[in-house]
Amino acid sequence: MDTPHSTPSSAPPQQWTPVDASELTGRERELLDRAVHIGRRGWGRVHPNPLVGCVLEKDGRVIGEGWHREFGGAHAEVDALVSAAGGPKGATAYVSLEPCNHFGKTPPCTHALREAGVSRVVFGAPDPGELSGGGARALESAGILVTGPVHSLYEARAENPTLFPRVNDRPWVELKLALSLDGGIAEAPERRTALSGAEALAEVHRFRAGFDAILVGARTARIDDPLLTARGEVLPRVPPRRVVVDGRGSLPPESRMLDEGDGEVHVLTTLASTDEWREEIAAHGAMVDVIEGTEGRVDLGVALRGLRMEGVSRLLCEGGGVLASALLDAGLVDRLHLLLAPRFLGPELVPAFPGIHPRPGDGWRPTREPTQLGADLWISLDRAD
Ligand SMILES: NC(=O)c1ccc[n+]([C@@H]2O[C@H](COP(=O)([O-])OP(=O)(O)OC[C@H]3O[C@@H](n4cnc5c(N)ncnc54)[C@H](OP(=O)(O)O)[C@@H]3O)[C@@H](O)[C@H]2O)c1
Repeated sequence: MDTPHSTPSSAPPQQWTPVDASELTGRERELLDRAVHIGRRGWGRVHPNPLVGCVLEKDGRVIGEGWHREFGGAHAEVDALVSAAGGPKGATAYVSLEPCNHFGKTPPCTHALREAGVSRVVFGAPDPGELSGGGARALESAGILVTGPVHSLYEARAENPTLFPRVNDRPWVELKLALSLDGGIAEAPERRTALSGAEALAEVHRFRAGFDAILVGARTARIDDPLLTARGEVLPRVPPRRVVVDGRGSLPPESRMLDEGDGEVHVLTTLASTDEWREEIAAHGAMVDVIEGTEGRVDLGVALRGLRMEGVSRLLCEGGGVLASALLDAGLVDRLHLLLAPRFLGPELVPAFPGIHPRPGDGWRPTREPTQLGADLWISLDRAD
């Protein structure tokens, strides 16, 4: 992998002690927040590398900003340094991630900051990479004042979860559902229901671009016949794979995703499906994987471990409710995205979370502030453990 920041080799969970909040003024915290914010512009373009932003301030003025724009391209610090009005000598750099300290495709950012004459670095999250980490120490040795890490593990994970995963043997899993006020995801079984408005749908397409794979259950694939492609304002660097969990083999061979759209199609099934069906689906170019399962239900833990081994580090499940509940019940969801629509669906609705068995201590906390998208509200929550 071309890495500004290499994959952590240590086993999660990682812990560190952030600097005392009193070490930062409100203005300093604001500039670091700004660095995080502009780092998000790399969404869909830098993955599997992290989102990183950098703000340069000198004499109370912001003189430059930058972010990691493209996988393999300049790092945020270098992008900011070249933009610095009046030159960066004596500036403070606010960086969302500890500057890297190794030669990857580009030279270490610690060297670039030192050579530019930056006098102080404030950074958000530590770089856990075995090769790329250690930037703070290197900067201090070069006589640069360093403040950080400022962010907690939880804050760091909100931006770059695959750098700080909860577990290593499966992808980081996010689950998104559009939800009515009465907790439904469709008006009635077998009825395709448009719940979200145009702004929310545009955001969903933009959002997909940051994932390695988009996953749905067999019934969603059958009823909605989705393409599962990222058709938003961000063109994904690599189109996400499209994955269907279909233990009994019910996906129609004429499904649109098999013949249309970018992104490999993977159909995960069990021996409960027939040889003929598997051959027919494979003849449409899909990868058909027979994995363990019980009564036609794919073993989701095995499925996710297999996807991880095939290079999927961040996966978005888009429903439906039966699959969502099975993933939640198995403790396999790291982040929830609920797209709340301001309407009721009534007595025939398809529930978002049928048959969930919450365990004592199961808890969720906001990943960030909810976002209003037209009439819909996007709420993101991280597993609290
Ligand atoms: N509002 C939203 O965000 C949203 C999103 C997606 C879908 N939907 C709607 O939701 C409805 C479909 O959702 P749904 O809850 O009925 O079904 P679903 O979650 O899409 O699919 C569940 C099916 O997946 C298959 N499966 C295989 N292994 C499984 C496992 N380990 N765990 C769970 N499922 C497994 C089973 O198919 P078999 O039973 O065939 O074996 C199971 O019935 C549709 O109406 C769709 O329009 C809404």
